[in-house]
Amino acid sequence: MLRPRGSKKAAQFTESVIREMTRLAHQHGAVNLSQGFPDFPAPAAIKEAACAAINADVNQYAVTWGARPLREAVAREFSRRYALPIVADEQVTVCCGSTEAMIATLMAITNPGDEVVVFEPFYENYGPDAILSGAKPRFVKLRPPDSPDGEWTFDERELRAAFHSHTKAIIVNTPNNPTGKVFTRSELELIRDLCVEFNVLAITDEIYEHILYDGTRHISMAALDGMRDRTITINGLSKTYSVTGWRVGWAVAPPAITDAIRKVHDFLTVGAPAPLQEAGAAALGLPATYYQELAEGYRKRRDRLLPVLTEAGFRCFLPRGAYYVMTDISSFRFANDLEFVKYLVKDIGVASVPGSSFYDDARDGAQQVRFAFCKKDATLDAAGERLKKLRTRK
Ligand SMILES: Cc1ncc(COP(=O)(O)O)c(C=O)c1O
Repeated sequence: MLRPRGSKKAAQFTESVIREMTRLAHQHGAVNLSQGFPDFPAPAAIKEAACAAINADVNQYAVTWGARPLREAVAREFSRRYALPIVADEQVTVCCGSTEAMIATLMAITNPGDEVVVFEPFYENYGPDAILSGAKPRFVKLRPPDSPDGEWTFDERELRAAFHSHTKAIIVNTPNNPTGKVFTRSELELIRDLCVEFNVLAITDEIYEHILYDGTRHISMAALDGMRDRTITINGLSKTYSVTGWRVGWAVAPPAITDAIRKVHDFLTVGAPAPLQEAGAAALGLPATYYQELAEGYRKRRDRLLPVLTEAGFRCFLPRGAYYVMTDISSFRFANDLEFVKYLVKDIGVASVPGSSFYDDARDGAQQVRFAFCKKDATLDAAGERLKKLRTRK
C-alpha cells in the first residue's frame, strides 16, 4: 500500500525549534524567553491605522508586489536614511514578513548547485530556506568573544575560502540574531570586496536595524560603494513596530532581481495583508523619537536581564543590537543544550532556545542557550525569580 510521505527536501530539516520552545513554554506554564516576540502592546497610532483601513474596506487583495503607500514609504525611508535613491515601482516587493521575502529572494536568484554563504550561528530559517530553494548553504563561523564585553568575530581567511565559482550569494544579518553582533563598516567592506571579486549577491536581513546599543551604528550593505546593484535588503514591520503577527515585510533590490522576486512572491502568497500594509505606511512615518525610545527601551531590558543571568551562572555575550543574548552554559555541567533547556523549562519554569538550533553541526552549540529580552519588566523579573533556583545546581 502506498503510504503518504513528505518530500526529500522536507526530510532534510526539522520543525522550528524556536517555535517548539514556545509550545513547551505554554505546556509547562513557563516564562517564555524563547521566541522573539514582544509581550507588550504595539504603538497606538499604527493599531488605529490598521483599524481605520479595515473600516474603510481595504479588505481585498492589494497589488501583488505591495500597496503603493507602503512601497513608497519604504523607498522614501531607505533613500533618506542611506542616501540611496530607490524607485518604489521598480525595486520594492512587499511580502508576508521578511521570512517570505528571504525565501522568495533565494528562490528567485539561485539555481540547483549554487552555494549561499551563511555566518553561523545563524537565524534558524536560513538553513531550510536554502534547502527549499535548491541551494547549498556554506557556513562561516562567528567566534564568541573571550571577554564579557568583547565582539563576535570571523576569520577573514575562512570567509574568503567560502567564496568560489558556485557561490551565488551571501546572507548577512546585522544586527544579528542570535549573537547581537552589529557588523562594522570594515567587516562589511571586506564582504563587499569578496562579493565584487567573485560576482556574488548580498542578501541582508536588517530586521533589527533600529535596535542598537552602546553607540553602535547600523550600516546598510546596499549603501556601500559597489553594492547597490548586487544587494537585496530585507526588512519588515515585525520587530521595529512590535507586530510580529501582522506578517508584513519587504525586499528592496535592483529592478531585474525585483522582477524575479515579484514573480516568485505572487505564486507563493499573492500578497501581504492589505489593511496592515496601509498601517505599515503609517508606521514608517513615525517620528525619530519613536526609534530612539525603542532602542532605549530594549537597552534597559538588556541591562535588566543580563546581570540576572550572570548571577544565575550563565556566561553572557553582551549583545550590541537586536534583542537576544547568547549565553555559555558550561558552568551547569549538562551533557548538552537540549537537556539543559528541557530542565530549564520543566523544572525551573523558563523557556529559552538551545544553542544547537543556530548551528549546522549541533555540537557547536551544545553549550550555548539563547534568551530573548523583548519582554515586559514584569516578565523579565518573573524569569529572574525562577532562575534563582538554578544557582543551587552549580
Ligand atoms: C533575523 C531574523 N530575520 C527574520 C525574522 C522574521 O521576521 P518576520 O516576522 O518579518 O518574518 C526574525 C524573527 O525572529 C529574525 O530574527
